[in-house]
Amino acid sequence: MRILITGGAGFIGSALVRHVIQHTEHEVLNLDKLTYAGNLESLTSIASNSRYEFVQADIIDQATVSAVLARFEPQAIMHLAAESHVDRSIDGPSDFIQTNIVGTYSLLEAARGYWQTLAEPQRSAFRFHHVSTDEVYGDLHGMDDLFTETTPYAPSSPYSASKARPIIWFAPGSAPTVCRCC
Ligand SMILES: NC(=O)c1ccc[n+]([C@@H]2O[C@H](COP(=O)([O-])OP(=O)(O)OC[C@H]3O[C@@H](n4cnc5c(N)ncnc54)[C@H](O)[C@@H]3O)[C@@H](O)[C@H]2O)c1
Repeated sequence: MRILITGGAGFIGSALVRHVIQHTEHEVLNLDKLTYAGNLESLTSIASNSRYEFVQADIIDQATVSAVLARFEPQAIMHLAAESHVDRSIDGPSDFIQTNIVGTYSLLEAARGYWQTLAEPQRSAFRFHHVSTDEVYGDLHGMDDLFTETTPYAPSSPYSASKARPIIWFAPGSAPTVCRCC
């Protein structure tokens, strides 16, 4: 498979990219803006692998993302790029709204445009994975209110609200971590 991973220079994204390159035969294109949270040194061990490519870009830049999709022709997108630090979201929510909501929307629009160019069976097989967070369920108060897949969303910070928003748009009434594109 060819997998486009966003946010692949981050904490979890870089572990995912390393895992896919080191333990599968899949090809990876890592699209990352390289904010303060991105660190290419995390990818040194796989950076020269012929199945790995890095593109520095912002997910909100729909034209660039669309061009990358048309060239790389992925079978799946794994969307991890985000502003992810809760305390930073309380100090200044703007970047969280831009990347986690507007950026995710822009990425979804680019993905839909690409998906519409696919013929069957590639179209049905295509997947868009949006990586969420347990924080969309709000706060735990003890052992009696553990989260389940049917727990209603109750985000309690600008970060968790910005992560909940795209899922509510595209899968109203449910809380998937994986959704079929568009
Ligand atoms: N770290 C956790 O404990 C945790 C827990 C649950 C869910 N998550 C989710 O997992 C995903 C990855 O988390 P992480 O800890 O690796 O995050 P991180 O903050 O370490 O990395 C985020 C990456 O996204 C990139 N990025 C930010 N804005 C971008 C943009 N506009 N365009 C392109 N790239 C951009 C950054 O450069 C960085 O490399 C996030 O979606 C996060 O919400 C994280």
